[in-house]
Amino acid sequence: MTSAAPVISDVAYQDLLNDPYPIFKRVRDTASAVFVAAANLTLVTRFDDIVKIERDPVTYSSDNPTSLVNKVMGPTFMRKDGAEHATGRKAIEPSFRSGTIKEHWTPRFAEISERLINSLSGAGEADLFHALAAPMASLSLMEMIGFKEMPWETLALWSQFLIDGAGNYARDAEIERKAMEAGSGIDAAIEAVLDHHRAHPNPSILSSMVHADPPMPIEEIRANIKVIIGGGLNEPRDAILTLTLGLLANPAQKESVLVKPELWPNAFEEAVRWISPIGMYPRRVTRETDLSDVMLPEGLQIGLCVGAANRDDRRFSNPDMFDIFRPRQSHLAFGAGAHFCAGTWVSRQTVGKIVVPMLFERLRNLRLREDAPPLIRGWVFRGPVSLPVRWDA
Ligand code: HEM
Repeated sequence: MTSAAPVISDVAYQDLLNDPYPIFKRVRDTASAVFVAAANLTLVTRFDDIVKIERDPVTYSSDNPTSLVNKVMGPTFMRKDGAEHATGRKAIEPSFRSGTIKEHWTPRFAEISERLINSLSGAGEADLFHALAAPMASLSLMEMIGFKEMPWETLALWSQFLIDGAGNYARDAEIERKAMEAGSGIDAAIEAVLDHHRAHPNPSILSSMVHADPPMPIEEIRANIKVIIGGGLNEPRDAILTLTLGLLANPAQKESVLVKPELWPNAFEEAVRWISPIGMYPRRVTRETDLSDVMLPEGLQIGLCVGAANRDDRRFSNPDMFDIFRPRQSHLAFGAGAHFCAGTWVSRQTVGKIVVPMLFERLRNLRLREDAPPLIRGWVFRGPVSLPVRWDA
């Protein structure tokens, strides 16, 4: 017998932002789907339920014409199903191929990383959010997209304004204005380089889009580039900081990875499992259905909390601990199914093989500051918003 989703109404939104994990655990232990009033959404938090949902895109659709993402960014393949999704996804695929990552992006990203870390090394202390992770994620995404060079802060601001706009359920006019302004800036930046990419095919995402068969229409190029800016900057930034924090807070694990560099990939996967940069993404129920113990009505919006599923104790032992030695098991930090993150391999390479290893190699005796602890925030997107560190200059 299934019944309607239970309701949790005694949680404050601020608690979700500060530390969602106790709330996620409560939701997981309550039912397979629970309406959480503070989030104004029915949340799914168990690992097996999310896998089941992602295997059934007919019942659980990514398509939602009324979503704020569509309003702020336009018609994107990330919010489509079936053939429409596959066409968009196939168009960008050449920029994400393993050969392209190895031969083209790896040397470019190593150069950016080297420049940023060298410029830091004499200082002896920094907040790695602004000093390394945000510029690294912004400058490398700028190159991947195929934009002309611009200050890293510009792309980072555009990304933030789009994200704020996509989550602007309260319809705040100022948030809406900034999101639209970011959108116009992005449209102009695309316009400035499109002829160049048409004339000179290259590995960038814009080049892949205009040389796809059939070429991607301009309004879809605009929308999909916005989704990539909204979704391809914060996540690698947060993964850089989370992996660094996990190792600094667990010195024995840090020593192991420095002595055995072949452990870096495990450390990266563990970091994004432990604090998943995307904590939740939405799906729409297309027909009344039973999810384990709960009946979901047609048309219901649900939030798939991969950040919760990645700490599901039915799947991971001691899930709240950062442990690079835990038995290797797949996680959901990059999603699952047809919309599995296009940037997975490039992020594995950039974060787990280039930036963070270079950081520990170049900055001697890198350590957390006891007088300035790291700050971690968010539940839809989660990561350190401040990571103050010291090293021997
Ligand atoms: C650690 C870094 C990253 C994490 C944790 C991450 C996570 C995710 C997740 C969970 C999804 C699924 C969203 C959904 O189904 O609604 C997704 C989709 C996507 N990601 Fe990432 N992402 C990361 C980095 C990147 C980067 C660097 C790029 C681009 C340069 C990127 C591009 C995309 C695209 C295009 C999609 C949509 C795929 C589709 O709909 O087929 N991601 N990502």
